[in-house]
Amino acid sequence: MVYAATATAPVNIACIKYWGKRDTKLILPTNSSLSVTLDQDHLRSTTTSRADESFEKGDRLWLNGKEEVVKPDGRLGVCITELRNWRSIEEEKDSSLPKLSQWPLRIASYNNFPTAAGLASSASGLAALVASLARLYQLPQTPSQLSLIARQGSGSACRSLFGGFVAWREGVKSDGSDSLAEEVAPQSHWPDMHAVICVVSDAKKGTSSTSGMQRTVETSTLLQERLRIVPGRMEAISTAIKEKNFEEFASITMKDSNSFHSVCLDTSPPIFYLNDVSKSIIAVIEELNRSSGKIIAAYTFDAGPNAVIYALKENIPKVLGAINRFFPTSEEPRDPFGIAAQDLPEGFDLK
Ligand code: ADP
Ligand code: DP6
Ligand code: CO
Repeated sequence: MVYAATATAPVNIACIKYWGKRDTKLILPTNSSLSVTLDQDHLRSTTTSRADESFEKGDRLWLNGKEEVVKPDGRLGVCITELRNWRSIEEEKDSSLPKLSQWPLRIASYNNFPTAAGLASSASGLAALVASLARLYQLPQTPSQLSLIARQGSGSACRSLFGGFVAWREGVKSDGSDSLAEEVAPQSHWPDMHAVICVVSDAKKGTSSTSGMQRTVETSTLLQERLRIVPGRMEAISTAIKEKNFEEFASITMKDSNSFHSVCLDTSPPIFYLNDVSKSIIAVIEELNRSSGKIIAAYTFDAGPNAVIYALKENIPKVLGAINRFFPTSEEPRDPFGIAAQDLPEGFDLK
């Protein structure tokens, strides 16, 4: 008998970035972070896990059709082992359960967007893996408990087990048992919050997040300054979300993206995730905000050149209008609400 389960997980894009580990094995961060999880129907990973007594020994995983080696002490291996241990506890409690914990696994995962291009594929990917195994093993653990496991696959993945606005608390314990994700507010709290994804390049990045942040921890002095500032930003952005204060939310989001890319530049050798198109997107959004007389859009960039722009639903046509005017593509940017991208606001003038 084959037992199988499929789960999907969306990407999350951080407003307060995680960049640095105090423990590289357990993946404990140097600072707390906060993100917005996108809708399931856009950027997502879909993972199917199968367990069968008759499979040859050893677990195997295919990502987008290509096999990735599962090393028992590697990140995928650690996640699988932890979830297997939780399953065996259930099997000990109830002897009628099939002994899935003892059977080899075959796992297939697909991303419907560019992998390793700075659009958080490790977040949705590892969250989908944990969710599919938790379903296969019928585990009773809560999303926050599962986030402890996803975190050990890829730090940012712990936040993708929740929808809406999510914080990853850095925790203080050395075993990582309090370094977990929790909901700050559900998506329904602020349904007008929308994200526009600008794919500047779908190429695999030159420096992975894992090696980039390690180099920053080892060589950047500016990181210490960033670590002093982030706790205040976590407080302030949580309040902005609770009060639905878009200007405050946006201002902190842009500042923190720029702070993160500054510490990348302060790393030796320096890491450049933004390219000229990314920098032009920053200029266009800054000008859109200036000419609007208030902040109506926030850019943020993860470890790659691709922009995510947060804006309230009413301002999405203006954002799309600005992006389309300066970055015309063969395809009009997709407007999820069916509103035609309108002209730029009056007085809009990019110097
Ligand atoms: P990104 O910016 O896309 O998160 P990272 O450098 O953080 O890039 O991580 C990319 C790595 O995450 C991939 O090379 C792969 O090892 C892993 N990954 C991505 N998607 C999946 C998935 N669906 N299932 C398992 N692992 C994945
Ligand atoms: C810039 O979670 O991909 O996207 O824990 O080594 O797998 P690992 O790194 P990862 O780093 C994400 C960095 C970021 C910021 C963020 O998502 O908070
Ligand atoms: Co990643």
